[in-house]
Parts: sequence; structure tokens; C-alpha cells
Amino acid sequence: MTQPDDQERVIRRAVCPGSFDPVTNGHIDIISRASQLFDEVVVAVGVNKNKSRGRLFTAEERISMLEKVCADFPNVTVASFEGLLTTFCEERGIGAIVKGLRAVSDFDYELQMAQMNSSLVDVETVFIPTSPEYSFLASSLVKEVATFGGDVSSLVPADVLTLLTARLAERAREQDE
Ligand code: PNS
Repeated sequence: MTQPDDQERVIRRAVCPGSFDPVTNGHIDIISRASQLFDEVVVAVGVNKNKSRGRLFTAEERISMLEKVCADFPNVTVASFEGLLTTFCEERGIGAIVKGLRAVSDFDYELQMAQMNSSLVDVETVFIPTSPEYSFLASSLVKEVATFGGDVSSLVPADVLTLLTARLAERAREQDE
């Protein structure tokens, strides 16, 4: 059987989209496993101007944190997108959307999004089951626990923990003023 030469080989690109406010060890687990499955992975931070007031970190800060934690994965890059994820996929020649599934409760909404996205453009959604040790992990819970002084050091990378602690302290000072 003839093998296609390198120039003909199709590059399999995937996107790992999310808010990443902030990136957690659960996200990194999914990104790392996606990087084994695809030639190129783009971690894409969704920027929704209507939701930006509810975010703890700006899009630039979230991107910068992701760039640091993804630096060890040679085929992973970080970007942001506004608007539809499917438009981003079309513009970048991305054929797969990778989503982590933590529990059955994630499935209904993720299935709906997957079907909507594939109705819009030619894109597949690939679900990766979250590793059991991260099945309870969500950025929103990390923020809540850390706000009330809980220990989240095993749930986020060390650099993220430092930034998270500093930002929450900043917010607490602002509220006291
Ligand atoms: O980390 P999150 O908040 O679960 O990420 C959600 C995200 C950014 C992946 C999702 O909201 C999204 O894809 N937003 C882009 C807008 C879009 O394409 N909406 C149609 C979805 S069917």
C-alpha cells in the first residue's frame, strides 16, 4: 500500500475551548490527552464581552496563564476567540472540538452544543472522560473555595494559585473600602 508523502499528509487539528477562569489541573489533563491524539491543538479562550464583568481574570491574563502551563506541550498553542466557536474552527482549519466530560450531568448540554456546532460547520466533537481525580473540579468551585480560604493547591498549577490568591485578596480589599 502506498503511503501519502509528508506534503499530502492531513494535519489533524483540534480546539480545546473554554473560559479558563482560571485554568485548572482538570483542564490541563484534557489538554495533555488531546495533544496525544491530534497533531496540533489550539486552546481557545472564549471571550464574551457581556460576561466579562463576571470574570475573575481578564482574557489576557487567562491566555498568559494558559501559555505558561501549556509550554511543555510542543503541539499546543493558545488563542482567544469572540463569537461562534465554529467560525474560529473554520478560520483555522480545525476539524475537531475536544471537550472533557466530568459526569453524566455534563453530557446533556455538551451533546446539545456538539450537535448544534456540527449542524453549523463540518466539525466533530470528541469527548474525553475526565480523569477520576478531577471529576468534581470546576473553575467556579475553585474560586468559591479559595475565596473562603479553602486549600486549592492540589487543583490548580502553582503559578495560577499565586495569581488566584493575589486577585482574591485584591477583590477582598476593594470590597472593604
Ligand atoms: O469553560 P466553559 O465556560 O464551559 O466554555 C464554554 C465555551 C466557551 C466553550 C462555549 O460557551 C462556547 O463555545 N462559546 C462560544 C459561542 C458559541 O459558539 N456558542 C454556540 C455553542 S453551540
